[in-house]
Amino acid sequence: MKKDFLHINDYTKDEFWAFIDRASWIKNKIKEDPQYKPFHHKTLAMIFAKPSARTRVSFEVGFFKLGGHALFLGPNDIGIGKRESVADIARVMSRFNDMIMARLFDHEHILELSKYSSVPVVNGLTNYNHPCQIMADIFTIYEHRKSLDDLKVVYVGDGNNIVHSWMELSMVIPFNLTVACPEGFSPDKGITDQARSKGLSTIEISHDPFDAVKDADVIYTDVWASMGQKEEAEERRKKFKNFQVNKDLMTSTGKNTYFMHCLPAERGIEVTDEVCDAEYSIIFDEAENRMHAQNAIMLKLMESVG
Ligand code: CP
Ligand code: NVA
Repeated sequence: MKKDFLHINDYTKDEFWAFIDRASWIKNKIKEDPQYKPFHHKTLAMIFAKPSARTRVSFEVGFFKLGGHALFLGPNDIGIGKRESVADIARVMSRFNDMIMARLFDHEHILELSKYSSVPVVNGLTNYNHPCQIMADIFTIYEHRKSLDDLKVVYVGDGNNIVHSWMELSMVIPFNLTVACPEGFSPDKGITDQARSKGLSTIEISHDPFDAVKDADVIYTDVWASMGQKEEAEERRKKFKNFQVNKDLMTSTGKNTYFMHCLPAERGIEVTDEVCDAEYSIIFDEAENRMHAQNAIMLKLMESVG
């Protein structure tokens, strides 16, 4: 078992299923047994270089429910990589805390944090990936479908950090991942090639959303301009206009299809209100499962360091 949770494909298929089983277990456990406090007297440092609603609240509430205390360190508190080096922050935080969760811009910084920390580090999103999100997403799909067999996930939108973690997952369990994005907005070539050469899952890149969504079990989208790209938002809206997830797209799959979004959504832009609020939309189950999936990850990391 790795010390840190940085990329989904750092883990084996068996470790992946152990996370999913633990997520199901802890989801029930915290409801049924409020006395279960394995993190009693433990602290989690949460370092945020970018804004957050779900990640902050799900980690803070989750760590508290397991008996520990989480500290919120916002962009103006630490100034990671600016006020102080990443390596020194890693060393200092490790002296006070039992675990570190960080949301950073530069992916290299989370690797450096992991390298110099003596306690487990959990990746709460970088410009490159968002592994906790996709663990919560696949757990949500598993809960709804009861199986991950013959799964087709179609991601419609920007080839961003969310897609990269879907690709990471595609190297651990087999499924069909189709990414429908405008030309010039494909996911990173390195990870796409790596996922394809692994040969476990089918990876398709399409520039035609209606063609891509055929037979989709899940249609997934995310904002067209991620944090740090908001000044490009207007230009992107023009380029992405045919990639909105609306009722026409949702009903052209030829089967019953779930709608998912990591949130926050820009309603009326990448997805319509009608789709977000439809009965096939599982976006709030997905949001809740951030906490359960992360609690499972933290429990397993904490156990592995003893
Ligand atoms: N999905 C997600 O990570 O949400 P936040 O940016 O609000 O944390
Ligand atoms: N791609 C989005 C995900 C937010 C959870 C971003 O990085 O802003």
